Amino acid sequence: MQLRGKRILLGITGSIAAYKSASLTRLLFKEGAEVQVIMSTSALDFITPLTMATLSKHPVHHEFYDPKSGVWTNHVDLGLWADLFLIAPISANTLAKLANGICDNLMAATYLSARCPVMVAPAMDLDMYQHPSVRKNLETILSFGNLILDAEEGELASGLSGQGRMMEPENILEHVISHFSKSQAFKGKKVLLTSGPTQEALDPVRFISNHSSGKMGAALADAFAEEGAEVYLVLGLGAKKPKNPNIRIYPVRSAKDMHQAAAEIHPKMDISVFAAAVADYAPRNAAVEKIKKEGEGMTLDLVKNVDIALSLGKEKLPHQIHVGFALETENEEFHAKSKLEKKNFDLIVLNSMKDTGAGFQLDTNKVSLFFADGRSVVSEVLPKKQIAEMILDGIKNLPIKI
Ligand code: CTP
Repeated sequence: MQLRGKRILLGITGSIAAYKSASLTRLLFKEGAEVQVIMSTSALDFITPLTMATLSKHPVHHEFYDPKSGVWTNHVDLGLWADLFLIAPISANTLAKLANGICDNLMAATYLSARCPVMVAPAMDLDMYQHPSVRKNLETILSFGNLILDAEEGELASGLSGQGRMMEPENILEHVISHFSKSQAFKGKKVLLTSGPTQEALDPVRFISNHSSGKMGAALADAFAEEGAEVYLVLGLGAKKPKNPNIRIYPVRSAKDMHQAAAEIHPKMDISVFAAAVADYAPRNAAVEKIKKEGEGMTLDLVKNVDIALSLGKEKLPHQIHVGFALETENEEFHAKSKLEKKNFDLIVLNSMKDTGAGFQLDTNKVSLFFADGRSVVSEVLPKKQIAEMILDGIKNLPIKI
């Protein structure tokens, strides 16, 4: 009974996936949630209000008023009643209404009045799901702070196969439970994360880079998002992407691009985590044409890249928190502590290449955290997800209150 006492308003819109809303209601009910249902007019073509009223043990809301009695359905009360407004499935049509403030039915009016978190589970055909207008609308509702349960891959009602199936009710249930059980310590906080390698072009076909996989950055981005943060991830090409679709991703190639993107986002941030493996040097001038093989050797003319963490560290405001990383092969603690000070970090995460189970490409890591106030913590070899949680705990325990 992990949802005991929770009030969930379930919105159902016109999609073949509406049949799954019946089992979703049962699953929520079995976990102790109280469920009330709103159905759009097109949802009525797919599943009957009788089914939903029986399963939710509440009358189904559909219209602004009952045409027989004239009694008004108070959408404001419905929005205030709910601890969570879950719209599953949400069609492209309803999504467009939410993104644009259109208010021509009870569902949309309730959305505009709701003060609780809103979670949507899209269901549509694969090409519709990838259409720029749908992507834009998803991004828009994301910017309103709504949560998206990304559609799953598989066979679609059209007979085509791809991404567009509404998330299975069991998986939606898991997200709802984790939404209520997770600490929301970073709710409303804006977090900038740099992650992955940078690529410094030598010519149109070659670049200088490093082995960073971006796995630690992806785990951190997911961990922040799960605890309610708005995450802005500036991500080097080829790096691992986080799972949570609520994260805004800014793909970049070079250190210069990464600096530009991060510097633009940084002033509005509460927390910045510099997890990227930024190339320290770049070719002075990338050749316009492919460099031809000539002679027995070649010398590269490199210039120093901007140090993103250092330059943004100089602009850090009193309420802002900066977290850095250090990957070292010798004299680890000394180097990590000098970077902590030099780059104005509140906390630095040290990876030692000497530790087995730590380093590039792996799913595990072993780290030491050094705090600006002198404290330190050492981890075991743990999955990167758990290391991310440990770093978040470190941030929660900083003297600056988040
Ligand atoms: N960093 C950065 N921009 C750079 C270089 C590093 O933002 N151009 C950030 C990294 O993301 C990390 C921290 O600074 O959080 C330390 O990075 P690291 O590569 O260990 O340190 P460097 O200052 O580059 O020192 P060195 O390579 O000499 O060890």
